Order: sequence, then C-alpha cells, then structure tokens
Amino acid sequence: NRHLISAGDLSRDDALLILDTAEELARVSERSIKKLPTLRGRTVVNLFFEDSTRTRISFEAAAKRLSADVINFSAKGSSVSKGESLKDTALTLEAMGADAVVIRHSASGAPHRLANWVHGSVVNAGDGTHEHPTQALLDAFSMRRRLGGLDGRRVTVVGDVLHSRVARSNVLLLHTLGAQVTLVAPPTLLPVSVDTWPCEVSYDLDAVLPKSDVVMMLRVQKERMNAAFFPSEREYSRRYGLDRDRFARMPDDAIVMHPGPMNRGMEIAAEVADSARSTIVEQVANGVTIRMAVLYLLLGGEIAQ
Ligand code: CP
Repeated sequence: NRHLISAGDLSRDDALLILDTAEELARVSERSIKKLPTLRGRTVVNLFFEDSTRTRISFEAAAKRLSADVINFSAKGSSVSKGESLKDTALTLEAMGADAVVIRHSASGAPHRLANWVHGSVVNAGDGTHEHPTQALLDAFSMRRRLGGLDGRRVTVVGDVLHSRVARSNVLLLHTLGAQVTLVAPPTLLPVSVDTWPCEVSYDLDAVLPKSDVVMMLRVQKERMNAAFFPSEREYSRRYGLDRDRFARMPDDAIVMHPGPMNRGMEIAAEVADSARSTIVEQVANGVTIRMAVLYLLLGGEIAQ
C-alpha cells in the first residue's frame, strides 16, 4: 500500500506487519538508540486543518526519530484563511518536496481526495467522523502488549460513536485481528450505518462490562454535538460513564483505554483514568512507535541498528 487512509484497507497480514515492525522499533528504542538514520533525506509534511495534541506531536516525533525532515503546517495562520483550497495547499507543499503527507481535516474523505493530487504517500491522521487508522493501530498495539494477543478478546467501545472516527477505525481493525467488539452508546449517538459494521451493539453498559477484556471510553465530542441528540451531562455520565463502581465490576485483569483528550468526570472518572489498569499514557507513547512503523513501511526505509 502506498497510502494509509482507512483501517479497513489493511489485511490481517498488513496490520500484523505494522504491529510487528512497531515491536521491533520499540526494542531498538529500549536499547537507548533514540534516532535511526532510516529516512534521512526524506520529507514528511504534517498538514493539520483541525486541532490536535497527541497525533500531530507524535507524527513529528516519529519522523524525527527516523531522521526525516519535517514540515509542520497548521491551517491557522496559513493562506487557508485567505480561501486557499486543500488542493492548492497540497500542491504548494508537494512543490517543496513532500515524500509523505500526514493530514487531519474536519471533512470526511479529505485524505482520499488528497491522494489523487499528490505523488507522495498520504496518511490519514483523522478525517471528520470517518477514520483515524493510526489511532486504531496504536490501540491494537497497546492491547497486544498488555493482553498478549487479540484473537477472541472482547473489546467494549463506549460512548459517542456517532462522531467517533476512532470507533470506526477500531471496529474495522479489531475485527480484522480477530477480536470481538461491542459498541455501547445511547441510540442517538450511534450512526445509522452501524448495522453494517462487524460488531455487536448494546445499550446496557452494566451488562457488558463483566464480559470485557478491554473497555475503551470515547470522548463526548461536544464541538460536533447536536444538543437534541444529547441527554444532560449528568444523565450521560450516570448511564454511560466509567465511574468507580462500574470499574469495580470489570474483570480483575481487564484494561481501560481512552484515545484522549478526555472529559474527566464525564465519560471517565479521574481515578479510573489514572489507575494502574488504564493504558492512557502508554497509548500516547505507543503512538510514536506505531507512527514510526507506518512511516518506515510507507517510505520503504530499512531498520538500521
Ligand atoms: N487521540 C487523538 O487523536 O488526540 P489528538 O486529537 O490530540 O491528536
């Protein structure tokens, strides 16, 4: 594959190759080798039209650890504010020699369109409510490291599925990797198309929790929310929040995940987010490793040790 746009484009072998490459890169980093010469002379452009902390910084860190040159572009402060189109912005950056373009955009499908306009590899860093494939890869990597494998594992994804590109990418990738996913959400926060997704759906978090190996909480995306679809914050928290009592009803070895950023106290209690069974900080660290693996595989470097 030349691009990474959807987790659904990855075969089981593709996904395992990325996870195994990330594992190899993590071993190299653990030997205190912080920087590899692999992508020396290559240029990675981070093209962010939507806000990001984790994804933008980790793609930058990943590219730098592979010795690539990095150009960071954010729409704020650019000629996008003067009306320049995505296509013209992309062609301008390509003229500066981009080998890979990492794009986050509020429009679902923007990375797909970009792939028709540029010669380099396109990596989807989150497009609207569509997909966030490197988030799903880092989540699968984090689960595999904690649980040992994904085949037959029961993963419960809870919350604002309607607006979540993380949920869709996770459902597609985890299904490919043999896990069983159950989505738990209020009926108003599930997309109409969910019937066609390879997963189960439940409205009863308390019934699903005791049968979960992983509980992944989603952020309530207030900035995309139509108030008519949302109960009150208190009601949402009462029915779908992972509080101390619900956490206590999870199996002893089950883990808690959240892609971040979190609404502490709404979808997840602070003490649950900070517990030893939470992988939230690990997910961020693993994000750098996974993005190194993706850039390495797309740009065709070799792991030099
Ligand atoms: N998980 C995630 O995509 O976080 P950012 O929006 O901070 O990149």
